[in-house]
Amino acid sequence: MLHANIIKAATPEEAGKLAADVFEALIRTKPACLLGLATGSTPLPLYRELIAREKAGKIDFSRVRSANLDEYKGLGPDHPQSYRYFMQDNLFNHISIKPENTIVPDGLATDPEAMFAAYENQIEAWGGVDLQLLGIGHDGHIGFNEPCDHFPKMTHEVELTAMTREANKRFFASLDEVPTAAFTMGIGTVMAARKVMLIATGADKKEILHKSFFGPVTPEVPASILQFHPDVTVICDAAAWGE
Ligand code: GLP
Repeated sequence: MLHANIIKAATPEEAGKLAADVFEALIRTKPACLLGLATGSTPLPLYRELIAREKAGKIDFSRVRSANLDEYKGLGPDHPQSYRYFMQDNLFNHISIKPENTIVPDGLATDPEAMFAAYENQIEAWGGVDLQLLGIGHDGHIGFNEPCDHFPKMTHEVELTAMTREANKRFFASLDEVPTAAFTMGIGTVMAARKVMLIATGADKKEILHKSFFGPVTPEVPASILQFHPDVTVICDAAAWGE
């Protein structure tokens, strides 16, 4: 392992609180910061904590901006399994962030290439991502950057692997309904963030967590590139660490 501060929490809830401390510190020192946000089950305790902290007057999201990592191709904002819907439901609808200050790749884009360029441009116009939140897939994917033979640079389209579709089918009525493709920030987009925070909880993440941070850096394990990021913090619970 080259870089990474690893913080071990006892439970997913404690991991969420420790992560929230980092978000709170950033938002207090830079009220108009740009957050890179993620979906999945892992960030939920963090999002609950951020909502509670704004209600308690500790954080103010009214000037914060956010850019999400990814979106399923073909799902619009009203689809309950779309990541835009997830973000509204689990975070944005409960905090003071302004709708125009949140971006998620458009799953219904008719000209995806133009959408990718506009997405990257908006991130740049907002001054770049200050803090990029990540979960991790069982195959080491971050965002929807699946294992492949290179590290994709920019926001792009990906075919989802069978493993990822299988893992995410729990949110859909059946495997057939899980989209086969997605739009995701690239590895380059993620690596350009000033600070990266990856949260991993649960025993099922143990193997890939260790492979990513203690194994070789390879596009076959996309998260392994984070070993080269100068400011990455991993927050894991006891189960993911292996205790
Ligand atoms: C999806 C998302 C990822 C997320 C991963 C793990 O594939 N695109 O951003 O990290 O799932 O999800 P979970 O946190 O539910 O294990």
